[in-house]
Amino acid sequence: MFITFEGLDFSGKTTQAQLLVEKLRALQESAGDRNHVVHFIREPGGTKISERIRAILLDKEHLEITDTAELLLFSASRSQLVSQVIIPALRKGETVVCDRYCDSTTAYQGYGRGLNLEAVRSVNRLATAGTDPDITFVVDISVVEIEHRKAKAGIAFDRMESAGKQFYERVRNGYLEIANNEPGRLVVIDGATAIQNVEHEVWQSVERKLALS
Ligand code: TYD
Repeated sequence: MFITFEGLDFSGKTTQAQLLVEKLRALQESAGDRNHVVHFIREPGGTKISERIRAILLDKEHLEITDTAELLLFSASRSQLVSQVIIPALRKGETVVCDRYCDSTTAYQGYGRGLNLEAVRSVNRLATAGTDPDITFVVDISVVEIEHRKAKAGIAFDRMESAGKQFYERVRNGYLEIANNEPGRLVVIDGATAIQNVEHEVWQSVERKLALS
């Protein structure tokens, strides 16, 4: 099974992805199934090459990166991850949980930066070799709440996190539109509620998928 988590920076999606991985691993353990691996990866990153591309993408000094170069770099990183990690794992019947995947590219580079959506779709198809998640959680949160969380975090932001409010509004709307177009794969969850509520909703959807598979 291939599960991805999506959402704006500071939406809490990484926490939710981690909680799900712990739960799936505990489930395997209690079933005595030590051979079933649950991979937890994040994008951009997850392979030696992809981590190097990540460093280029998030470096605050790299303000000259064009929108198209940004699209291609995220996608190059993904292509490497898909062929080195995701496809081999799925072929072995293992579980892959990924913190961000190609919906990030559609939302950030397509809707956020305003690149042609059809071109983004083609690049996504090329980078993923048609490997689509079985289920994708969009942890949805308002941009106002994101601003609160950013201010509270009091940390230095990377190049992507330094984007303005309007950019984030476009990305958020992008995610909601993608979810609207593919209701069978994407599940939108209200990220403004308590962590345990979000965790519970995620688990219910995963259980439903597991029961069907
Ligand atoms: P990261 O520090 O991993 O953020 P997060 O914890 O929110 O996932 O940085 C990834 C950044 O890159 C994040 O701002 C979203 C952005 N991004 C894109 O713009 N396009 C993409 O295809 C991906 C995978 C990420």
